[in-house]
Amino acid sequence: MRVLGVESSCDETAFAVVDDARTVVSSAVASQHDLHAEFGGVVPEIASRAHVERLIPTLRSALAQAGCGLSEIDAIAVGHTPGLIGALLVGVSAAKALSWSLGVPLVGVDHVKAHLYAGLLETDLDETACFPALGFVGSGGHTALYRMASPTQVERLGGTIDDAIGEAYDKVGAMLGLGHPGGPVVDRLAQTGNERAHDFPVSTLGKESLDFSFSGLKTSVLYAVRGHPAKGPNNKPVFPREASDLDESAVADVCASFQRAAVRAVVKKLGRAIGAHPDARTLFVGGGVSANSALRAALQQWGDERDVRVALPAMHFCVDNGAMIAGLGTRMLEAGTRDDLSLCAIPSGAS
Ligand code: KG4
Ligand code: ZN
Repeated sequence: MRVLGVESSCDETAFAVVDDARTVVSSAVASQHDLHAEFGGVVPEIASRAHVERLIPTLRSALAQAGCGLSEIDAIAVGHTPGLIGALLVGVSAAKALSWSLGVPLVGVDHVKAHLYAGLLETDLDETACFPALGFVGSGGHTALYRMASPTQVERLGGTIDDAIGEAYDKVGAMLGLGHPGGPVVDRLAQTGNERAHDFPVSTLGKESLDFSFSGLKTSVLYAVRGHPAKGPNNKPVFPREASDLDESAVADVCASFQRAAVRAVVKKLGRAIGAHPDARTLFVGGGVSANSALRAALQQWGDERDVRVALPAMHFCVDNGAMIAGLGTRMLEAGTRDDLSLCAIPSGAS
């Protein structure tokens, strides 16, 4: 089955053509990072408008790369939850129009579950032998652990109670004046820093909790960068120094120490999750932060030590893309799931 995947939940407009759920024939991603950089984060209205402008060119590019026309598409899969409502609506409306005009089935896909599926794309993993599995999604909007009976049967075990891990990376990047999104830059600078320079906290929450918290870590990084604040007029904090007072090696040390704490938090919770679910054969990992070099190395080591296969997506399938939507959408279609033109964009997902 040849499925067209449509993704527009945040700041990437993406289409992909995927055969039989696993073979990525083409994947076109138009990123909006340049548009949001000056604001230090994604501006929803700008994102929605940019999706409208980039939709048709990105669709054309995915079809051209695949060397196929719309008449060769068997079904449309679209990420319809969770995400920014205006952004989601653009992709969902386009997917409905394509499905209706081509007379092919439509399926709405959960973006977060699709991130977990990304580890199966373009691999020769025996899909049936992978389950039961654990899943970890770390992105700019989500950080959660899952138990997976199959790609489509996914149960949430726990998640962040405050910031997402990618958001923490981006806020640390912003504190250090590294631009947006800060995650990839923090990752790069951390490689030259001393990860023991600062002893940042790793939040464990309750004894058995599978939830995450990154806000305390973020505050500790802020104090390390700008010093402890005094109370100024109207109780506004006044910091003794600016991030620009730090030299290159001090910035790298903050990045490395932050990254060590963030990665340790994930590994800690995974240890608890496997303790509760020792039958897990595979760890699926997804979301933009799964591109992080330290996290990838730590998770691979974690899996090797426990004889758990770690399904890390290829780098280009870590960030938002249409191929993961088409892949999981195909599995849903095979299981008989169909949506019609009443399909809604739902900003806050069940996952
Ligand atoms: O999955 P994604 O493209 O969009 C969301 O669904 O949020 O993830 C984007 C997030 C951003 O927070 C970005 O900084 C982070 O993934 N990210 C990274 C790296 N590459 C992307 N974080 C840490 N290290 C990286 N190498
Ligand atoms: Zn995402």
